[in-house]
Amino acid sequence: MTADPRPATDETATPAQRPPGRFLTFEGGEGAGKSSRVAELAERLRRRGVEVVVTREPGGSPGAEVVRHVLLSGGAEAFGPLAEAILFAAARADHVDQTIRPALTRGAWVISDRFYDSTRVYQGATGDVPGDTVAALEEIAVDDVRPDLTILLDVPVEIGMARAAARRGADVADRFEKEEKNVHESRRRAFLALARAEPKRFVVIDATRDPATVADAVWYGVCSRLGLPEKD
Ligand code: TYD
Repeated sequence: MTADPRPATDETATPAQRPPGRFLTFEGGEGAGKSSRVAELAERLRRRGVEVVVTREPGGSPGAEVVRHVLLSGGAEAFGPLAEAILFAAARADHVDQTIRPALTRGAWVISDRFYDSTRVYQGATGDVPGDTVAALEEIAVDDVRPDLTILLDVPVEIGMARAAARRGADVADRFEKEEKNVHESRRRAFLALARAEPKRFVVIDATRDPATVADAVWYGVCSRLGLPEKD
């Protein structure tokens, strides 16, 4: 175990550096609107003078982006669920080492579009990889870098799938999008179960509402959980 990567308050730091690094993750099924809500939250935090690093999984570092391509193209599917889970963990280890830990250490806030809860759900709960294997891979990949807050954007599967199809247009569905509706239903239930199991870490947001309302709910959730004043 390494030390807490977030620096203690440093009297010599400039105001923009003074907030200690925080790690936020967004999770949810297909078409929940994660990437737009991530971008809006980052912008709102930046207006407060916070350095924000926006990142995503799989990917988020040059090495992990290469693995992302292998995973989402379906190139690793033939090797089976365990091999895919190992590749997600390998990508995550690089992402943590190269991007997330350095940013937190210098006091930045990191917002990641997906992180280990996606592996717990996609490869674990709905993907045939045993829970203890998922947990062991997770421990190796992240060490002590665990989210302070996880925002789960929850939408019924029909709505999420319709939004994802509209966004995709003529492009083909990726390795994980293409699965049957009942698999997407199971994933939604699995995310909600994770949130119930760790209520202090998770904020669950009804993402069926219009984007501005969801963005405000995200902002309220972040401010109330992390002790920031809500008003600009
Ligand atoms: P992406 O194109 O980033 O889509 P989304 O908008 O849904 O986040 O695709 C990432 C896909 O990879 C998504 O279907 C979920 C899947 N995934 C896993 O199966 N396991 C993981 O650990 C992660 C991070 C993602």
